[in-house]
Amino acid sequence: MTQPTVDTLFEHALASLRLRRYPRLRGETLRAWDGADLYLLDEYGRLDAPAAGAPLVLNDQCGALTLALHACGRSASAQLCSSGDSWLAQAALQANASDNGLVLPEGVWRWPLDAWPEAPSVVLVRVPKEMALLEAQLSRLGSLPAGTPVRLAWMDKHLPGGLVDRVRHYLGPVNLLRGAHKAHGLQAEVPAGGVPAAPYPTRVAVPEQGWSLTVHAGVFAQQQLDIGARLFMASVPKNVTGPMADLGCGNGVIGMMAARRNPGLPVTFCDESWLALQSARENMQACLPDETAHFHLGNGLAGLTERFALILLNPPFHRGHAVDDTVAKMLFRQAADRLLPGGVLQVIGNRHLRYDRTLQRHFPKVRQIGGDSRFVILAASR
Ligand SMILES: C[S@@+](CC[C@H](N)C(=O)[O-])C[C@H]1O[C@@H](n2cnc3c(N)ncnc32)[C@H](O)[C@@H]1O
Repeated sequence: MTQPTVDTLFEHALASLRLRRYPRLRGETLRAWDGADLYLLDEYGRLDAPAAGAPLVLNDQCGALTLALHACGRSASAQLCSSGDSWLAQAALQANASDNGLVLPEGVWRWPLDAWPEAPSVVLVRVPKEMALLEAQLSRLGSLPAGTPVRLAWMDKHLPGGLVDRVRHYLGPVNLLRGAHKAHGLQAEVPAGGVPAAPYPTRVAVPEQGWSLTVHAGVFAQQQLDIGARLFMASVPKNVTGPMADLGCGNGVIGMMAARRNPGLPVTFCDESWLALQSARENMQACLPDETAHFHLGNGLAGLTERFALILLNPPFHRGHAVDDTVAKMLFRQAADRLLPGGVLQVIGNRHLRYDRTLQRHFPKVRQIGGDSRFVILAASR
């Protein structure tokens, strides 16, 4: 039933693994690894006999790096550490470990603000899509012993502008390595004498509400409120009659508006990004401390048993680097199952995405309640 259509056999000199993305989708079209993973494992293989300690992996997507390093048994696996912001990446790691009969040591996974091991043998960094997240991670490398080797890799087609200069800013001299697997890499090490601080979290003003939002590194709309979010905020209804959810909450501004317009009603903030939820948590605490808020880190509403009178959604239209409406469609389906009788899913989207058509597959009633030349705001109910 849930068979993917892409290749799942990951092969490298260090390990062969069966790898799939999470959630497991029928007819999945995206592979669970890419050349940047192979590149980093090649680099690891080239290191001299690993020093005491184990690698620290940053931004593993679906476990290719962490599981290959664990399976090859070249280092003290008990200290292997993999850190990233994505709950889906963490879930893919756990599911793929189980599929391959691998038992990862307790505490392998660390969320972005968790402590790292004190002296990893090497830091292997997949360059994430969000440069801000990378910068926040690089600035933290200053806590590791000077001289710790660092390797970064990215797919050539995803090279972020200014990457080499940014890495140099934090780590000093870097070597650009030869390309392989349609990927490239940088060689650096933790410098003696400290690493500059990164300018995160940022502050985003919402003057009309008197809010100054905290936005952690890599969270959507890092420097200013998203224009779609601003339009969506204005459409948040009053007089809601039951619990509300901000699905894909980012910094939480949409759910905060719902809480302000409906005092006394609880809001559940949901995101798969740990730093997004952390931003929302801090923003609710700072701006609306008397309102009741719950925070759900996971794949949309999966794992929640509660039903909602209002679900607000400004959906993602990417999966990783790929423009893809798979996630939006999945969130629509989830919302259809989690509404209270009479409940409403309210969605904003770019006009050309035609979310109205997709929503009509799950909701008998879909009407446009707002928008402008670029966006539409839709209310869907059953
Ligand atoms: C377009 S942003 C909207 C953020 C915020 N609501 C706003 O309007 O500014 C979409 C959000 O969905 C989150 N997201 C992506 N995939 C998700 C998933 N499977 N489950 C939950 N959240 C997800 C992203 O991390 C991101 O914060």
